[in-house]
Amino acid sequence: MTTTRAATELIRARSSWRSYDGRALEPRDRARLEEFIAALEAGPFGGRVRLQLVEPSSGDRAELKKLGTYGMVKGARTFLAGAVTQGPMDMEDYGCAFERVVLKATALELGTCWLGASFNRSGFAAKINLAQGEILPAVSPVGYVASSRTFVDATTRFFARAKKRKPWEELFFDGDFSTPLSPQAAGPYAEILEMVRLGPSASNRQPWRIVKERGEGVLHLFLRRTRGYNSRLINVPGGDLQRLDMGIACCHVELAARELELVGKWEVLEPPPRLELPERTSYVASWREA
Ligand SMILES: Cc1cc2nc3c(=O)[nH]c(=O)nc-3n(C[C@H](O)[C@H](O)[C@H](O)COP(=O)(O)O)c2cc1C
Repeated sequence: MTTTRAATELIRARSSWRSYDGRALEPRDRARLEEFIAALEAGPFGGRVRLQLVEPSSGDRAELKKLGTYGMVKGARTFLAGAVTQGPMDMEDYGCAFERVVLKATALELGTCWLGASFNRSGFAAKINLAQGEILPAVSPVGYVASSRTFVDATTRFFARAKKRKPWEELFFDGDFSTPLSPQAAGPYAEILEMVRLGPSASNRQPWRIVKERGEGVLHLFLRRTRGYNSRLINVPGGDLQRLDMGIACCHVELAARELELVGKWEVLEPPPRLELPERTSYVASWREA
């Protein structure tokens, strides 16, 4: 059992799995995940997130259908689902908390796959008793992966170019958006930024942009929206997938910093940093080394 693997190793090891072997979670794995979920810290921006494992009552085919993924995921018996209370940073907080559990599942050698679009939203909402004022942004299968990926899984990965990531110069900047930040110039922050770069994102669009303050331990996170992408998906009730991606970035910053023994905290600056922004780009939050 490899529960003590470093967070950076888990971030490198994780990939989305849509093919499972049909087995229910072993009680031990289930207990460990549930224990982890129960002990989750609050989101970095104070949003109220609740997460839980859900599965249909045994053998109930109708219920299984309600927890469906439109054929995207095969053989999964258990899902991670949850809700966040509506608020200004709700998606970021949910994204961060959910990714923590995804990485815990990775540590337990369980497969996962963020699903922000391809799942039966009303079926899952009923299963978790979604309350008024709450949003259910995403779910994930959690289970033992099949020995090979299904055709749907393999083609989805092919079309999302799932293994590829944008190069550093498109994502990370030194002081302002016109100066790319190299790993050498990032010094101790290079590993933190690399962990953001390797993270999952909806359709692998990688909307995270980070400006590091020159000579300071401050990372300003920005969301560069993909043209035409969110205008479609923002209308999914409760779904702003690219803000979930930003929450994942926050999670990876936190975990990598902790591993490097860099202590810092999140803040949402008001007014936001005075920077000239590229198109479709907006400020999210800053991580400041203490
Ligand atoms: C917020 C979010 C939503 C996602 N929604 C879906 C989805 O609805 N269906 C799906 O098949 N994959 C979904 N994915 C998985 C991405 O396609 C995947 O993370 C990306 O292609 C990178 O591949 P990797 O996770 O294997 O590194 C989602 C990922 C994120 C982060």
